[in-house]
Amino acid sequence: MTNTVTPEHITLDPTAQAQLFTDARTANTFTDEPVTDAHLRAIYDLAQYPPTAANTQPLRVLYIRPGDARDRLLTHMAEGNRAKTASAPVVAVLAADTDFHEHIPHVFPVRPQMRDGLAADPTGREAMARFNATLQIGYWLLAVRAAGLATGPMAGFDTAGVDREFFADTAWRSLLVVNLGRPGPDAWFPRLPRLDYDTVTRHA
Ligand SMILES: Cc1cc2nc3c(=O)[nH]c(=O)nc-3n(C[C@H](O)[C@H](O)[C@H](O)COP(=O)(O)O)c2cc1C
Repeated sequence: MTNTVTPEHITLDPTAQAQLFTDARTANTFTDEPVTDAHLRAIYDLAQYPPTAANTQPLRVLYIRPGDARDRLLTHMAEGNRAKTASAPVVAVLAADTDFHEHIPHVFPVRPQMRDGLAADPTGREAMARFNATLQIGYWLLAVRAAGLATGPMAGFDTAGVDREFFADTAWRSLLVVNLGRPGPDAWFPRLPRLDYDTVTRHA
């Protein structure tokens, strides 16, 4: 275990800390052990809760299993990301729904009129969708780890190509492609250094 956190200030169980944070790694190969639909639903059961602005929840997820759709996805991945994507039992394309405002009367009933304001502001709406969906991606990655699976997030892909291929005539815009499953042989690159507290923190 590489747990270096300060024990008296972290209330989460140490095993959970290791699973979610200190021992969790980015996987670069996967076994062919399947990931069931029930497993994918369990991930969302957790990932739905952390906060977004006005509770808007713009993250959308397209799951792709091996087959024709996965082969089409591979053509849009950067060369160095193809083999690892081909080895995963399921791949998630995480996207921002730029029409998230349509759900506002349901998810933010205290101010349903926000829907109309955002309907008239497509530029601001897309920025809000991308920012909040990106926050949700962080939550989602931790939820996958909580479900006992490893992730391999990849920004190295042609976003316009993926949007044409899978999201034509929709308001979804791809942000990140993530492999998930059980780690395979030689799954890990060496652990890279993290910035220390004093480098990333200031007090005012
Ligand atoms: C937004 C994002 C984009 C990434 N893009 C790629 C990628 O295109 N290809 C790749 O091999 N790894 C990619 N990674 C993986 C990171 O390099 C890796 O998560 C990081 O070095 C930490 O590795 P560790 O979890 O094993 O410590 C990406 C990770 C994130 C979060």
